[in-house]
Amino acid sequence: MNGLGIAVVGFGWMGRVHTQAYARLPHHFPQLSLRPELVTVADEVPGRAEEAAGRYGFASAVRDWREVAADPRVRAVSITAPNFLHREIGVAMAEAGKHIWIEKPVGLTAEDARAVADALGKAGVQGTVGFNYRNAPAVEAARELVASGEIGTVTHVRIRLFSDYAAHPEGALSWRYERERGGSGVLGDLASHGVDLARFLLGDITSLTADTAVFIPERARPTGATAGHARAAGGELGPVENEDYVNCLLRFASGARGVLEASRVSVGEQNNYGFEIHGTTGAVFWDYRRMGELAVSRGSSYQDQPVSTLYVGPGHGEYAAFQPGSANSMGYDDLKVIEAYHFVRSVAEGVPYGPTAADAVASAVALDAMARSAEQGTWVDLG
Ligand SMILES: NC(=O)c1ccc[n+]([C@@H]2O[C@H](COP(=O)([O-])OP(=O)(O)OC[C@H]3O[C@@H](n4cnc5c(N)ncnc54)[C@H](O)[C@@H]3O)[C@@H](O)[C@H]2O)c1
Repeated sequence: MNGLGIAVVGFGWMGRVHTQAYARLPHHFPQLSLRPELVTVADEVPGRAEEAAGRYGFASAVRDWREVAADPRVRAVSITAPNFLHREIGVAMAEAGKHIWIEKPVGLTAEDARAVADALGKAGVQGTVGFNYRNAPAVEAARELVASGEIGTVTHVRIRLFSDYAAHPEGALSWRYERERGGSGVLGDLASHGVDLARFLLGDITSLTADTAVFIPERARPTGATAGHARAAGGELGPVENEDYVNCLLRFASGARGVLEASRVSVGEQNNYGFEIHGTTGAVFWDYRRMGELAVSRGSSYQDQPVSTLYVGPGHGEYAAFQPGSANSMGYDDLKVIEAYHFVRSVAEGVPYGPTAADAVASAVALDAMARSAEQGTWVDLG
């Protein structure tokens, strides 16, 4: 097995999750011909990269990500810094010939995502995007059920992404709430995953109309460095510049209709992500919090048709890499191990596996359209 020199840029929540996924990769996917080697980690907060190197075993730690681009030991880079850096770092890494595993939403706009996709294409390197929910074996199973006609022709879908991570009024005014550094709000944060799920399960979206709202218009500025969703009580107040909530109607190329709703401020909702897909003869339901279960209704009864639980198992997606039998729970981190597998396999074989920069562009185009629709109060064609 050959080594693959890895760097991680931005060591907050996602930086840690990517790093742990690399470490677990040989345990779950020993068939890979490349073995990740943690070469260097970059973070601009003093001491953060050093601490990560000490804890996780990176050979070196730096503050400036440009040193990563120039490091010949590094062949593949996780870009887990805030959204406003995705484009600059993504393009620079691609131009330096590095393969990238980049977090969603890949920049602030569709133009940013396109710039990263173009740079990857020009450099001939691989790019995997952090749309992790499609890696859940149950989501793969749902996709297969839908594609094989088990629920008839899909008529409509409801996709929800409700969370409370920004529900506390004392949540710090971090980069996430600023246009310049975070771009959109819940659109990029959660609806981006919803659009990816919609496309993964049901194919292309052709047009949409959306409504957005800000429910917590001011937050306290943080007094120090933030990571994740820190609190900042008592600090000077500043404006929340992007949306807390979106509700969107979708039309698919197949003729199906959809509703996508996402919120970062829903009290009482913790990672309530999922979908309900309805077809002419059945339905499929998934709740991320019961990741290994699909509720399926199929048959020919139309009315009063029972719903049964399908526990995913070794035959579904990459489940077999984790557990030998059905109904053993998988977790969020496991989805990231699968994503790391797709990434390293793409590098090893020179062909993409899993969501690519093209998927990020398609998601970002839909998000831009949602923002435009909310502003103009009209339907927007995605072209
Ligand atoms: N796929 C998912 O489920 C998921 C979940 C959370 C976040 N994300 C995405 O991951 C990215 C990071 O989010 P997070 O929650 O880890 O944020 P975070 O705030 O916890 O971490 C970001 C890190 O980047 C560092 N950073 C900032 N500027 C930097 C620079 N110039 N150079 C190097 N490091 C820099 C910060 O110091 C911080 O340590 C975002 O794009 C976000 O959308 C994806």
